Amino acid sequence: MTRNDNQSIRRRDLLTGAAALGVFGTSAPSLTFAAQAANPPARGLGAIAASKGILFGASLAVHELDRDHGERYQELYIRDARILTSELEFKLSTLRPKQDALDFHGADRLIGFAAAHSMPVRAHTLIWDDDVPDWIHRLAPGGISDLLDMHIETIMRRYAGRIRYWDVVNEPIGPWDGKPGNLRAGPFYRALGEDYIARAFKAARATAPSDILVLNEAQCETADENGETFRTSLLALLRRLKDQGVPIDAIGFQSHLKLAATYDLPVFTAFLHEVADLGFDIHITELDVNDSTFPGDIAVRDRAVARMYRAYLDAVLKVTAVKVVETWQLSDATSWMNDPATQARMAIRSNPRPLPYDASFQRKPAWDAIAEAFDAAPAR
Ligand code: G3I
Repeated sequence: MTRNDNQSIRRRDLLTGAAALGVFGTSAPSLTFAAQAANPPARGLGAIAASKGILFGASLAVHELDRDHGERYQELYIRDARILTSELEFKLSTLRPKQDALDFHGADRLIGFAAAHSMPVRAHTLIWDDDVPDWIHRLAPGGISDLLDMHIETIMRRYAGRIRYWDVVNEPIGPWDGKPGNLRAGPFYRALGEDYIARAFKAARATAPSDILVLNEAQCETADENGETFRTSLLALLRRLKDQGVPIDAIGFQSHLKLAATYDLPVFTAFLHEVADLGFDIHITELDVNDSTFPGDIAVRDRAVARMYRAYLDAVLKVTAVKVVETWQLSDATSWMNDPATQARMAIRSNPRPLPYDASFQRKPAWDAIAEAFDAAPAR
C-alpha cells in the first residue's frame, strides 16, 4: 500500500492539531476540562462502547484498592469498565513466587471484585517468556514442559466458569533474540521451541473449552522498522498456528502508544484486516499514550494525548473484528509508567499523563476522545 504522507501521525501534527483535524475524520475533544467537571458524563465509557457492540475496560491491580486512593480508584472501574484485566495477579511471578508455593490471594480478590460488579475478567497471562520467577530458570527442559501443562490446567480449573478471557501466551515475538520467526527466546521457547505456543493453547482449550483464548502481542503499531518486523513476524506465526489447527480465538494488540513515535494507521488497519481474515477476533488490550518527550505544558500534553487516542481508535474501530478495547489502568496515578525503574529504562518522564483520568482521578480530554471514538465507531 502506498502511503499518502498526510495519513501518518507525526509529532508535528500533534503539536499543530493536524492529527486530529480530518486526517481520519477526527476532531479534538469538544468540552474543556472545567466543563467536563461541571457536567459528569451520563454514561461511562463501557456503556458508550457497548452501544456499538464493543466491550471496554481496563487493567486493575488489587493492591491499588488498599492505598489511600482505593475508593476513588474503584469508582472509576465501576463507572467506566465492563471488563477487567489482571495487571499482576495471574502472572507466573505472582501465582508461583516459589516452585512449591501457589499464591492465589491477589487472583481471588480480583475475581471477587469483578464478580461483585458483574464484570468478565481477562486473566493476563498464563505463559509469558518475561517476568518469570527465578526458580523457573533453574528447571531442566522437561521440567519446563511439565510446568506449562500443569500450570495451565491448575489455574484454568481453579477459576472454571469465573474467567471469560485468557491471555494464554503473551509477547511471543522478540527479534532481539535472533531466533527463527523472530520468536522471543525465554525459558518456554528454549525448552520447547515454537511449539510451546501451540502446546499452551491446546492445553487451555482442553481444560476450558468454552473460554476465549487470546494470543497477546506488543510493538505491532508503529510505522518504523520495529513495527514492521513485529507485524510480519506475528502474521507469519499466526498463519503457521492456524495451519496447525491451534485453537486461538482472538489476537490482542497491546497498543502502548507514544507521542514520540510515528504511526501509519492505514498500514496498521490493513494489517488488522489480514489478522481478521485469518478468522481471529481482535482485542486492543493495553492501550495508553506515553506523553514523554512532549512539552511540559499539561494542557498541551493532554490535548495531544487525546488526539492520539481519537485518531488511533477511529482507525482501529473501523475494523469490526475489534471487539474489545482496554486501557492499561484508567488513572495516571496507577500507570505502569510511574515506576522509577521503568522510567529510567524507557526514558519516560516523571508524572506521565497517559490515561483518561489524571492522578487526582479527574477526567481528562482523553476521556472525551475515547467516548467520541466509540460514538463514531461502526456497530459490530
Ligand atoms: O509490589 C511490589 C513492591 O512491593 C516492591 O517493593 C516493588 C519493588 O520490587 O515491586 C512491586 O511489584 C512490581 C509490580 O509491577 C507492582 O508495581 C514488580 O516488581 C514489577 O515487575 C511489576 O511490573 C509490572 C510488569 O508488567 C511486569 O509484570 C507492571 O506493573 C505492569 O504494568 C506490566 O504490564 C506489562 C504487561 O504485563 C505486558 N505488556 C506490557 C505491560 C507494561 O510493561
